[in-house]
Amino acid sequence: MNNLPIIVGISGASGIIYAVKLLESLKKLNIKTILVVSKMGFFTAKEELNISENELINLATEFYPNNALHASISSGSFLNRGMIIAPCSVKTLSSIANSYNDNLFTRSADVALKERRKLVLIFRETPLHSGHIDLMQKATNSGAIIMPPVPAFYNKPQSIDDIVNHTVARALDLFNIENNITKRWNS
Ligand SMILES: Cc1cc2nc3c(=O)[nH]c(=O)nc-3n(C[C@H](O)[C@H](O)[C@H](O)COP(=O)(O)O)c2cc1C
Repeated sequence: MNNLPIIVGISGASGIIYAVKLLESLKKLNIKTILVVSKMGFFTAKEELNISENELINLATEFYPNNALHASISSGSFLNRGMIIAPCSVKTLSSIANSYNDNLFTRSADVALKERRKLVLIFRETPLHSGHIDLMQKATNSGAIIMPPVPAFYNKPQSIDDIVNHTVARALDLFNIENNITKRWNS
């Protein structure tokens, strides 16, 4: 299990910094990453952080284009730790909730669910209408973990990095990946 890769998806929601911190943290922890990015994921990376496609791809161990539906990660027989999508857009949440597997991104998420592996969605949208809430319920019923990037303030964050790292650390916790990226509460 310790040598298995984790699949990282980046969709076109705001918050590409979560993906960057996640990939950097996993690299430091010597955990292999397999990256898939949607077209709008690349767009928002450029828009929010001025990061090029190649710079984003270079943060991962392996990368597949979103149309590569023949890639290893689209098969349940390929062993991995599961998948995290950070940030996850409404559109991607909707595809996952409805198993609309027309690209590698949503197909590998669907495979994680069918194989009962972890699927963590750093879902970013606000405010929400009842359709969004229905989609979160539907994905949760199939086994996904919806984890909106909601900051905590009990550890007194001093910077954007502190806020982002807290969410990244809690997401890695869900995969039982030991880390000390954030200060933990100790009363
Ligand atoms: C700068 C920017 C920020 C966006 N932020 C969000 C967001 O926070 N949540 C969301 O659901 N969509 C957001 N969108 C819209 C998505 O990019 C759009 O719905 C897209 O179709 C998502 O496709 P994907 O899930 O395949 O990446 C944003 C778009 C842009 C250009």
